[in-house]
Amino acid sequence: MRAARAASAALRGARSVSTVGVVPTPPIDAGAVRLGLPGAVGNTPLIRLNSLSEETGCEILGKAEFLNPGGSIKDRAALFLVKAAEESGKLKPGGTVVEGTAGNTGIGLAHVCNARGYKCVIYMPDTQSQEKISLLRVLGADVRPVPAVPFTDPMNYNHLAMEYAESHENAVWTNQFDNVNNRRAHEETTGPELWAQTGGKLDGFVCATGTGGTLAGISRALKAASGGSTKVFLADPPGSVLYSWVTSGGAKMERSGSSITEGIGQGRITDNLADTELDGAIHVPDERTVAMVFRLLAEEGLFLGASSCLNVVAAYDMAQRLGPGKVVSTVLCDGAARYQSRLFSRSWLEDKGLFEAVAPEHRHLVAFD
Ligand SMILES: Cc1ncc(COP(=O)(O)O)c(C=O)c1O
Repeated sequence: MRAARAASAALRGARSVSTVGVVPTPPIDAGAVRLGLPGAVGNTPLIRLNSLSEETGCEILGKAEFLNPGGSIKDRAALFLVKAAEESGKLKPGGTVVEGTAGNTGIGLAHVCNARGYKCVIYMPDTQSQEKISLLRVLGADVRPVPAVPFTDPMNYNHLAMEYAESHENAVWTNQFDNVNNRRAHEETTGPELWAQTGGKLDGFVCATGTGGTLAGISRALKAASGGSTKVFLADPPGSVLYSWVTSGGAKMERSGSSITEGIGQGRITDNLADTELDGAIHVPDERTVAMVFRLLAEEGLFLGASSCLNVVAAYDMAQRLGPGKVVSTVLCDGAARYQSRLFSRSWLEDKGLFEAVAPEHRHLVAFD
């Protein structure tokens, strides 16, 4: 308590010496204090997943992206997309940011827009969780859930977002799928953070992709830092073409089935993912993803969304492929609170044929009927 009071007094003191109307004087310990919400994005902890590391004889590390201020890895992309729009002169004070998103980029954008004085319009497929839609509304975004149709359909949420921006004054479509400022966020922040946090001893990285920004940016950063020796794999859920695309050397784009995961899986090669160096791919069925949701909660105390848990399954498989003694990392994209009415509901899991995938010793964690 006393320490907290002293710290807050120190900050008040720091503020009192700043000059009104000028960029605030950095607080006393500029390394410890982040400048506003944008300054709090990134620099997330790297967590050793103990039980999985011990089981594989490798170090399996998850980057805790759910600790970003908007609660997901997409805060990084949101910040870079807005900054790029500002720097290009397209986004002017009081303007509107428009995006098509499965939810997390929208949540990141809504936070950044509030912090910088912009309006935020979000088009999203109506298949996404109610928790994400409600959160976007609470954050003040103008949310427009629309029927989930393929990218080739003019009514796809991305095309609607673009059209809205084109037909409104001072509105910018941030275009997260094909605007490579998304990838840049990870090439300039997430990748270098991972390299520094592992002291340059990183044998493998793997994650799933939605826009491709995370995987492509981190691949670029790690390949540059390691001179090409860090192996980078793509992880893919059912219903996505990317596993077939990577394993066929780009010759095939086949898909089958569908997935309960949100925000990942793709039917095309986005500009963010194009020309990315990848060493392999891992397909993860929903049964293994769901089992990992409950295992990570029961054994590691980590309450993570399905894409994070798919990533951890893939990191486990990659560790086994690389062999004992290796260091393998992935990203823990967001928390499970965003999906809890689905993932932690017995009837929802049964409806998807996934209740049996939860290990019997973890079934007490399925909290809702
Ligand atoms: C929960 C979640 N995980 C993973 C991703 C994929 O990240 P990226 O778009 O950088 O490929 C997203 C994207 O929206 C997401 O919402």
